[in-house]
Amino acid sequence: MFETLSPAQPDKILALIGLFRDDPRPGKLDLGVGVYKDENGRTPVLGAVREAEERLLSEQDTKSYVGPAGDLMFNAAMVRLLFGSQADTSRIRACQAPGGSGALRIVLQLLRLARPAAAIWIPDPSWPNHAALVEAVGAELRSYPYFDPATGEVSFGAMIDAVKSARPGDVVLLQGCCHNPIGADLDPSQWSEVADLIVERGLFPFVDIAYQGFGDGLDADALGLRLIASRAPELAVAASCSKNFGVYRDRVGAAIIVSRTATEADNAIGQLLSVTRSMYSMPPDHGAAAVRIVLDDARLRSGWETELEGMRRRMVRLRQGFVEALQRQSNTSRFDFLARQRGMFSRIGATPEQVERLRMEHAVYLVGDGRINVAGLPETRLDEVAKAVVSVLDGFGC
Ligand SMILES: Cc1ncc(COP(=O)(O)O)c(C=O)c1O
Repeated sequence: MFETLSPAQPDKILALIGLFRDDPRPGKLDLGVGVYKDENGRTPVLGAVREAEERLLSEQDTKSYVGPAGDLMFNAAMVRLLFGSQADTSRIRACQAPGGSGALRIVLQLLRLARPAAAIWIPDPSWPNHAALVEAVGAELRSYPYFDPATGEVSFGAMIDAVKSARPGDVVLLQGCCHNPIGADLDPSQWSEVADLIVERGLFPFVDIAYQGFGDGLDADALGLRLIASRAPELAVAASCSKNFGVYRDRVGAAIIVSRTATEADNAIGQLLSVTRSMYSMPPDHGAAAVRIVLDDARLRSGWETELEGMRRRMVRLRQGFVEALQRQSNTSRFDFLARQRGMFSRIGATPEQVERLRMEHAVYLVGDGRINVAGLPETRLDEVAKAVVSVLDGFGC
């Protein structure tokens, strides 16, 4: 059987984790892996989540199946978190999913079923798994230009031109906030223009939101999604709780469908549950139950919001501090875009060779495309890291 298989393409991030682990240098620094880190370099269990888990442990009296759509109260809480507590939910249906990745996969499968000829447009660049997920369902993969490395801003004109060339019925996947890997998001007027274009051209918007609360705040980060929802007759959302609740390994996410009518919404969610039934039957309960307890309990929720806001502010502070350190080390304002961007990720504009030099000469680990995880920067070593970055990049006479 398996003699027919060739070795799988090694996963670059997993390979990086291995190299980092085996590196004996004491000051080594991991800016590659995409998880939030606190000032001690740890990815903590949030206090509110831990308390919810303790409650779950003491109160849960059965491990029987929950149901195909998972925890219904979790689903409802996620809809409120994403669409706002006042949103009209009559045409919205949700289903718990194993992380944001699981939500993306099942929605893509549903879209393939609903409209097999639709192309799926993703940003270029994007989180690498987007392309893999689209290819996994056999849909046509297209991309729209999203980033101008010269300015560190979204290449909005080029994006709009590409989206204009999409066929009616094509799917436009948009990252809701804190774009991975570049940290540059659409501003409200750009969201508005995209929403209008989507409606005008009969395109289907699919919002992937994995960092709500990491950018400008819980509501501000959902602004794009809410704007699209207020104008487009139908859309889909893949939401992840991995980062904003710190429940990475518990696999918590939600797939949400908005349809033209309540009947269409019921049909869509019914078909979505048929998709999940033949994939994994039901989503895992534990993490989603903990998130639901946090969201539905006023005290835990307020504790979580405070913790999340602390993480968000820390990343904003690190961005600002890193920009200042880079200014000092380079005597230029070349990196100022980092302070305008949001979330964990940005690209510093390093080639794969320069990324390799950072690792070999300075024990600073980055993903090959030059993406850094801002949350991994130690506040006390910003000048040291900035000096290393400047020493490998072109244009500083080094
Ligand atoms: C843009 C984006 N979408 C979705 C995800 C999915 O995350 P998970 O499957 O861990 O919930 C990630 C994770 O890194 C991401 O960066």
